[in-house]
Amino acid sequence: MKKKILITGGAGFIGSHVVRRFVSNYPDYEILNLDVLTYAGNLANLTDVEDLPNYRFVKADITDALAMNDLFEQENFDAVIHLAAESHVDRSIADPTAFVMTNVIGTVNLLNAARAHWKGDYDKKRFYHVSTDEVYGALGETGMFTETTAYDPHSPYSASKASSDHFVRAYHDTYGLDVVISNCSNNYGSHHFPEKLIPLAINNIKNNLPVPVYGKGENVRDWLWVEDHARAIDVIFHEAATGETYNIGGHNEWKNIDLIHLLCDIMDRKLNRTPGDSAKLISFVTDRAGHDLRYAIDSSKLQNKLNWVPSLQFEEGLEKTVEWYLENEEWLSNVTSGNYKAYYETQYQGR
Ligand code: NAD
Ligand code: TYD
Repeated sequence: MKKKILITGGAGFIGSHVVRRFVSNYPDYEILNLDVLTYAGNLANLTDVEDLPNYRFVKADITDALAMNDLFEQENFDAVIHLAAESHVDRSIADPTAFVMTNVIGTVNLLNAARAHWKGDYDKKRFYHVSTDEVYGALGETGMFTETTAYDPHSPYSASKASSDHFVRAYHDTYGLDVVISNCSNNYGSHHFPEKLIPLAINNIKNNLPVPVYGKGENVRDWLWVEDHARAIDVIFHEAATGETYNIGGHNEWKNIDLIHLLCDIMDRKLNRTPGDSAKLISFVTDRAGHDLRYAIDSSKLQNKLNWVPSLQFEEGLEKTVEWYLENEEWLSNVTSGNYKAYYETQYQGR
């Protein structure tokens, strides 16, 4: 069946995997990737699909309500898969306002545009909000987040995502908009901007730079391969009932310090270094303010109802990820030098 889908944030890390999956697997769907190309947006993430006939890109800002309205007027979308966001906790601590603007106001602008143009005819229209497990706050040594865990965000990032989740639900409850939300744990994989723990550590180890570990490295994250997240989004988008929420996670908890040691071992092997050499780069630094101790997702609803299970063991996925960064030196050096910004001007302007 033909569908015209707006995917926001498709030039970012997870968004590019979602765009690639939808463009490649659903040739009948028309995919419009909307992204304003902040520092995190990189169209070189999509070189393998950018020429396919069912893919288009538009550079636009979701904080611009009029632009969102005009776009919905012109395009007559059947669905929105909304990933555009400010996504880095440390940046949210430095500057919360950008997170309110994009994550809260931007999401409300999209909801308003969908509501205005779908005009109550919500049958077969769908607004999918891609969210995070960080809305649930922090766990102690035990327990897991389920879909009914009360929201308790701590960082400006998670507060902004919690707020946007609430608005999405409010548009369902108040106006009857068909919405679905998924809350996912930490992702890893290719095309990840090297400010987040795993790609930053790979880049620093490769360049013999210190690997900063916050506090004592005892915080726990539940890591999921990004392509498993994209597959979960595909399944939820197509099969979830209206108004549903699904948690997505890898059942794969790692203390940061243990993860970094595993990464150092892989890097020693891949770079033919003496075992233990990369670990000498580990540098314990001042802890993040308000650092959530532990995240762990119970994704049994998704596994039982929609038959989704993660496909990769973490050790295998991490090894694949390291290989990708080592094989894609140009991608990494373009990102670290800032050259990736030129890709839009050279490849897209005038298209
Ligand atoms: P990212 O930072 O890599 O990408 C975000 C994208 O959004 C970028 O391409 C950026 O240019 C775009 N963008 C930002 N502000 C915009 C605006 N005002 N208008 C239009 N585009 C804008 O983020 P990511 O890690 O790929 O995360 C994608 C989504 O998934 C986010 O909503 C995030 O909250 C959520 N999420 C991320 C993780 C994770 O581990 N990274 C886990 C769970 C959920
Ligand atoms: P991050 O990748 O920023 O994701 P999030 O904060 O959304 O979980 O961080 C993952 C974990 O790694 C988190 O506990 C903070 C920690 N961390 C470091 O120890 N050093 C770093 O340089 C970074 C970026 C994160």
